[in-house]
This record gives sequence, structure tokens and C-alpha cells, in this order.
Amino acid sequence: MDELKVFTGNAHPTLAAAVCGYLGIPVGKSQVFEFSNENTFVRILENVRQRDVFVVQPICSPVNTSLVELLIMLDALRRASAGRITAVVPYYGYGRTDKKDQPRVPITARLIADLLTTAGANRLLTVDLHAPQIQGFFTIPVDELTAITLLSQHFRDKKLDNLVVVATDIGITKRARDVAANLDASLAIIEKRRLGNDDAAEALNVIGDVNGCVALTVDDEIDTGGSLTAVSETLLTKGAREIYACATHAVLSGQAIQRIQACPVKEVVVTDTIPVEAGKRVDKITVLSISSLLGEAIHRIHTGLSIGAMFE
Ligand code: R5P
Repeated sequence: MDELKVFTGNAHPTLAAAVCGYLGIPVGKSQVFEFSNENTFVRILENVRQRDVFVVQPICSPVNTSLVELLIMLDALRRASAGRITAVVPYYGYGRTDKKDQPRVPITARLIADLLTTAGANRLLTVDLHAPQIQGFFTIPVDELTAITLLSQHFRDKKLDNLVVVATDIGITKRARDVAANLDASLAIIEKRRLGNDDAAEALNVIGDVNGCVALTVDDEIDTGGSLTAVSETLLTKGAREIYACATHAVLSGQAIQRIQACPVKEVVVTDTIPVEAGKRVDKITVLSISSLLGEAIHRIHTGLSIGAMFE
């Protein structure tokens, strides 16, 4: 357990390399690929017996491939007698399917927790879960980091006047309140209702005053950009004079980039928990790196230091 090793699948090797750069170690050698029959194959190419092993792999596009790669890597490491295995999942895909809110639907976020544990994970290290209660789906220790400080610092440096932080739905209110506290800003909340299971979203009501203010919206993720479009248009009609947006996870699926380009938001700030390819890095989008935060957390898990102290 004295030696720390970090491996990666194909979901986000750049982030894994940056994390290893922070830790001053090379990325662990492994092969992770798909045969022509679509079966995923993994081989760990170095000895991991009794080592403290971390696997960096967000559950991001292609979501099911990323998940299966992670599961198979965990299995390979467990069978190779790793001393402790931490699944480092900066973006916990399927996190939005976290409750039975319609008849006969699954709780996939719980299923994934069981799969990761069965495959061999002894711990989970993750960032801004869709709902913090997902931690409770695990019977192994979970460390959930937050990008709130990183995102807040970006906007603190901008020195925006008359700022109001806007929670894009009721569920994100606590995190938005933390951003507001970091920026000495007031808080407003959007009451948003989804219409059915498609990606359409409707922003209905703004709780709080945004008239004449610079608004900064806070969300855990931007997926199709539907929420951001609806929320920013609502803020404009309520008199916001300038709008910025931040979110931890840049899912950016479907028409997201076109919607971001077309919506009245001046800048959208996200992190690299998910890779943001060159084609998606349009002028309006700023990507902050989470690698130091993850690297420091891995160092602290390995050496038995407090993770909470990172955020005090
Ligand atoms: C939903 O509850 C989440 O917090 C985000 O608001 C949502 O994932 C954003 O999705 P989209 O960009 O597709 O509207």
C-alpha cells in the first residue's frame, strides 16, 4: 500500500495524465480496447499487488462503454491483488436516475453503485453528484469533491457588480447558496418543471429579484442546454442586464453547443470532469481544470489526510 498507482480507461486520458502530473507519477500502463465483437478487453501491464490503486474514469460519452471499461478495469485490478482500489469517477453518469418518481422505472444510480462495488471498488472519489444523497447508495466510503470553490474563484476575479447568483432549479439551491456566499452576492431560485421524459424544460418562476442585476446561473451539469436556454431567457424577461452561467459537468449532448451560442448568456464556465473536445470549445465556453483538486484528494486518500480540510 506504500506505492500509489493511477490507471485510466479511454473516457478521459488527458485528465488522468494531468492528475498524474500533479502527483508526480506516470500513468499506470494498461491496455483497454474493444475486440471486433464489441467485447471490451483490459490488461493491467504492471504489478499492482498490495498497491494503492486509483482508476480515473468519468462515466461520460460513450456512456455505456465508459462504464463497462471501468467495471472491467476494477475487476482486473481486484483479480491482480491490488491492496485497495479507488474508483475516481469525476462525472457520475446515470446520476439523474436516482429515484423512483414514476411507476415501473429503475434507480440506475443505485444499480451503478452496486456494480462498481461488486466489480472491486473499495472507495469512490467523485465530484458534484447530481444529488449528494447518491453517496448513500454506496456501502463503501465515498469522497465527493465540489467544484464550487474553483468556479466561484473564476467569477470573483471578474469583480462583477450587483451580482445575483441564480439556482437553476430547487435541487441546486444549496450549491448556489454556497456560490453566492463565496461571491458576497444575493441568491435567486428558478422554479423549473420538466415536461415529460424528453429533454424539453420550462422555466416557470423566479423566486427573488434579478431586475437590473448581473445574474450568474449555477447548475450541476449542462446536458442539452435546454435548461440554460429557458432559464437565461426567463432571467432576461425579469430584467437581468447580463447573464453568466457555471456548471461542474459539461455533458454538452445533442444541440447543446448551438443552444449555448444562441442563448443570451455571455460566458459559460464548466470544468473538465468530462472531456470538452476542440469542436465544442466555442468562444463563450471556458473550461477550468479539476485535475489539481483530484490530484490533491488522491494524495490525501493515499496518505490518510483529511479531504474536508481542502474545502475549509
Ligand atoms: C437537472 O436536474 C440538472 O440539474 C440539470 O439542470 C440538467 O441536467 C440540465 O440538462 P439540460 O442541459 O439538458 O437542460
